[in-house]
Amino acid sequence: MLKTLAVANYRSINKLVIPLGRLNLITGPNGSGKSNLYRALRLLAETAQGGVVNALAREGGLNSTFWAGPETITRRMQNGEVPIEASVRRGVKRLRLGFAGDDFSYSIALGLPEQSQSTFSLDPEIKKECIWSGPFYRPASLLVDRDGPMIRARVGRGWEVLAQHTPIFDSLFDQVGSFRTSPEVLQMREFIRRWRFYDHFRSDADAPVRQPQLGTRTPVLHPDGRDLAAALQTIIEIGDPEALRAAISDAFPGARLAIEPLSGGRFAIEFHQEGLLRPLSAAELSDGTLRYLLLVAALLTPRPPTLMVLNEPETSLHPDLLPALARLIIRACGQCQVWVVSHARRLISALQQDPDCNCIVLEKNLGQTAIVGQRMLDEPAWYWPD
Ligand SMILES: Nc1ncnc2c1ncn2[C@@H]1O[C@H](COP(=O)(O)OP(=O)(O)OP(=O)(O)O)[C@@H](O)[C@H]1O
Ligand SMILES: [Mg+2]
Repeated sequence: MLKTLAVANYRSINKLVIPLGRLNLITGPNGSGKSNLYRALRLLAETAQGGVVNALAREGGLNSTFWAGPETITRRMQNGEVPIEASVRRGVKRLRLGFAGDDFSYSIALGLPEQSQSTFSLDPEIKKECIWSGPFYRPASLLVDRDGPMIRARVGRGWEVLAQHTPIFDSLFDQVGSFRTSPEVLQMREFIRRWRFYDHFRSDADAPVRQPQLGTRTPVLHPDGRDLAAALQTIIEIGDPEALRAAISDAFPGARLAIEPLSGGRFAIEFHQEGLLRPLSAAELSDGTLRYLLLVAALLTPRPPTLMVLNEPETSLHPDLLPALARLIIRACGQCQVWVVSHARRLISALQQDPDCNCIVLEKNLGQTAIVGQRMLDEPAWYWPD
């Protein structure tokens, strides 16, 4: 489980250290930085998939993702006694992402190329990556240390150099195949690779989910929801069909779902509703109904991730469906850690009924994303390795 998430110098996040629980609900007004925080989490996930440098280039390069305000906002700037202005930088300019898990923690620092001889001017360089044991960094707890092209690992009381010429665009997780590595590195890579993000289901008229789909066992719903019928049938066969039935009737009393095998091994959704003489196909369902079914399939997955992230799951759902969705989310917390970004009042209040709900309300304070009510003493301890 993720215990702490730390982000620095990324868009509206100058510095943020967030304590996390089993169920995390991120909310706040427009522009407060919810999506920025969500993107930071996705970038962290990309480190273990080999895509963090490319993902930043797609965002327009590091220079545009760096926090655009001063390195520190002094008390006098806060009080309006002096204008907001840049001061002499104390540290090098880095985008930093990190998290503390149950046993191990990880951080990465990305910076601009020093003297770029490359045409890939948008690509940042990975400057530092560290894995340490325990929740906060101390030099003595460091297990794996990557400094530019060099990766070394602690062996007994000393250090062993694992690689000396690591490309500056490869994360240490990309390189683990090429050297003998400690189980912690592999364990951490697998942990991050099993984070799952849902932020945009397609439900438009041409969306693949509205057509019959290939029926192959699908324990994990595709991020855009295209294999819904197969995912639902997988839940019926190897997952929790009772929970599926309950989730449907919780939201649509009297309704029933069936998956119809068609010729050529394709599957079609049949949605039986009270008062209708025939079931409706996926092509005929409303956006909201289809999106609810997609969320059901995502949340009842027979292969739970280590972290399930839902970005604004309320999109196009009627407020009356939100308590049922909240019950599904709370159920999913029994299997995995959950992160929900939401604006919807009914979803927020239903999730807050859960005693484990860690509600994080973001606000913007002089352009910086901050946590409402977080004082210095409430912030989890976090030290960046360099
Ligand atoms: N490089 C940057 N430096 C500082 N602030 C930035 C930078 N890039 C974007 N922002 C600010 O981040 C804010 C956008 O944050 P974000 O998209 O995370 O908001 P949100 O909470 O998701 O809002 P909404 O509810 O509208 O989706 C904008 O107000 C924008 O001004
Ligand atoms: Mg947003």
